Amino acid sequence: MNDEKLQMFRNRLTKMYKHISKLARRQLVTCYRVYDHDLPEFPFCIEIYEDKVYLAEYQRRHGMTEEEHEAWLESCIPAISEVLQIPDERIYFRERRRKAGRLDQYEKLASEKEFFIAKESDLSFKINLTDYLDTGLFLDHRITRGMVRDEAKDKRVLNLFCYTGSFSVYAAAGGASEVDSVDLSKTYLGWAEENMALNATMHPQFRFIHADVKQHLDELPADHYDLVVMDPPTFSNSKRMKDFLDIQRDHADLINKTLRAMRSGGILYFSTNYRKFQLEQEKISAASIKDITGATTPFDFQGKLFRWCYKILK
Ligand SMILES: C[S@@+](CC[C@H](N)C(=O)[O-])C[C@H]1O[C@@H](n2cnc3c(N)ncnc32)[C@H](O)[C@@H]1O
Repeated sequence: MNDEKLQMFRNRLTKMYKHISKLARRQLVTCYRVYDHDLPEFPFCIEIYEDKVYLAEYQRRHGMTEEEHEAWLESCIPAISEVLQIPDERIYFRERRRKAGRLDQYEKLASEKEFFIAKESDLSFKINLTDYLDTGLFLDHRITRGMVRDEAKDKRVLNLFCYTGSFSVYAAAGGASEVDSVDLSKTYLGWAEENMALNATMHPQFRFIHADVKQHLDELPADHYDLVVMDPPTFSNSKRMKDFLDIQRDHADLINKTLRAMRSGGILYFSTNYRKFQLEQEKISAASIKDITGATTPFDFQGKLFRWCYKILK
């Protein structure tokens, strides 16, 4: 590869790392993002998980053969290792390819199953940088998780589309009286249960529910939950679902059904990664809706976050 280009990448990563790692140290954060497509010719996302690096490549550069790509990567990895001062055997590389026009996000890739534990604040989470497309912890919701912990005392909490249950762990740590976690994936639900067990004494009030959220919402009692997190995928389709999920089309209905299951004065955190998302506020029967995207954007995602977050009160 052109040495000048590699030097540009090295310079950018050095600058980002210096800035972001300083903020991370100050906030005692040990898992954070350092680089996100900063240079188009280096379409990586780079995250640090304590002493390990997650390196994801989102799209293959045009016109490269398999061998050229390999050689290009082989020149990038030592640069990353040198700047971040982490040996290359602790750099985990993932290719996140597009399939049928959109990222095939939740597909499991291999069967190595290499898990380790990382800390966020005083809580522990199982992380996997080798076998799944995502790591087990979405770093951009660090602040939102803290909000959930602060508000959870003696509350009945519902975590919809819970993935590995990080919001549920925070809710339990905050003293929630009940935490229901719902996901369609048995793998992620099992992972959520393990995360919970790492941090809390399990009791029957922590439930892990294998269900399609769309159907589950219809079965919930009215006026029950005090605090709800709903962080759905943009699209979802599965044999287990009666109908596919399209967050732009379905969000008002999902939010209204969730509000029905909440007590008056309850809080719903709704988040979506759909870049072109437009909240249909007029269709939602809430006491108030506040856009908290800015307030929930952590230091390592400033100016780079393409997700939305709302605080909705019943
Ligand atoms: C964006 S992730 C949620 C991230 C999670 N809130 C967190 O912060 O860790 C989406 C999750 O939704 C689940 N999912 C997709 N479609 C679903 C459906 N119809 N019902 C329930 N879960 C679904 C996936 O298995 C995945 O775990």
